[in-house]
Amino acid sequence: MNSYIESIDFFRGNDPEQIAEKYGTPLYVYSEDTIRNRMETVNKVITKYDYTANYSVKANTNLTILKLALDEGINCDAMSMGELMMLKKAGFPSDRIFFVPNNVPDEELEYAIKNDIIVSLDSLAQIERYGKLVAKLGKGHECAARINPGVGAGHSEKVVTGGKKTKFGIAEADIPKIQPILDKYDLKLIGINQHIGSQFLDPQPYLDAVENLLRIARGFKGLKFIDFGGGYGIPYHKLEDEADYPMEDFKTRLLPILDAFVSDYGYAPLFKSEPGRFCVAEGGVILGRVNAIKENAGKTYIGTDIGMNTLIRPAMYDSYHDIEIIRDGKTVPRENMSEASVTGQICESGDLLAKDRMLPEAKEGDLVCVLDAGAYGYAMASTYNTRPRPAEVMICSDGSVKQIRRRETYEDLMALF
Ligand SMILES: Cc1ncc(COP(=O)(O)O)c(C=O)c1O
Repeated sequence: MNSYIESIDFFRGNDPEQIAEKYGTPLYVYSEDTIRNRMETVNKVITKYDYTANYSVKANTNLTILKLALDEGINCDAMSMGELMMLKKAGFPSDRIFFVPNNVPDEELEYAIKNDIIVSLDSLAQIERYGKLVAKLGKGHECAARINPGVGAGHSEKVVTGGKKTKFGIAEADIPKIQPILDKYDLKLIGINQHIGSQFLDPQPYLDAVENLLRIARGFKGLKFIDFGGGYGIPYHKLEDEADYPMEDFKTRLLPILDAFVSDYGYAPLFKSEPGRFCVAEGGVILGRVNAIKENAGKTYIGTDIGMNTLIRPAMYDSYHDIEIIRDGKTVPRENMSEASVTGQICESGDLLAKDRMLPEAKEGDLVCVLDAGAYGYAMASTYNTRPRPAEVMICSDGSVKQIRRRETYEDLMALF
């Protein structure tokens, strides 16, 4: 494919150059249409039984995006008190929020209990801590537990969250120790959840993990919900025509597994999933400016203002993001390509958006457009090298462009001192 952004008219007729000039670079740009479309898709993964997708907001907590989720009727998962607060600010009622923290202090659990938000407890120690708070506050008796299914999957070891090598969840061997703690504090376990990892395009590991969790669920009586976690992948190599996550095939293979469980269990609890990346990754790009081109020891470096402070995924996980070069508002065709590395302005040799990549020729003043940056992009951005974080804008469904977060200023950075 020559240009993804042009193939789907990502900017809805707006000129990316004008957007970049108006709001500055680096700039996160989102597509309302794409985000709504992906949220709608994940909310229909199961239609035969009661089901809700919980958008895992860690992927992107921009308030406007949370409001899109609210409007799309998708529920949300939060990992921290800050995320809970953002969801409340966006207008989410408590029964549409699921809190899935790990290793948190009383303050965060207490906030959830006081706000009637169901909490998933990630260890026996956290159930104990939670139980003491419930005894003190006299509410919050219903809770969930995160199970470590003993298997994991993901694009990098750093995002595999199930299995013996990870910190997450209660190991199957420890499950018999849960009930005595629940009894001690008069707690009722109403749900179990898992999350095996992130960014898989083959549904098999997830299906195996669903089957495994349902096997474990058979040992718990009276569950109100079972949550299978997130992880559905997106094609990061779309310029090379990589295929989408096979959602229809996945749904077809999932159904008989659920049917078998429901028939054994006697009824269908609410089923849930926790997709983050799938909902927002493809709905976001980063526009940056080429500030310098340099040759060094036979290699070409395209120096931009998109550093690892703006997008850390390539440096942190060796992640691949497609890159388009934009000149005069149009994508430069993928012809006469040569090898170049795309770098940012951060003082680290790992500050590489793309290493030795075949790209069309870039010139100083061009824009670079980094694709699939809507998930774990801004959410993981930092002020490293004392660089303010970028602004975010939304291309709305009506074609208008709206700033949905202002650029951080140097005054913002100084204000903490
Ligand atoms: C507990 C939990 N649920 C859901 C997610 C979302 O995963 P993904 O963005 O791969 O769908 C994560 C991400 O790591 C997670 O830790």
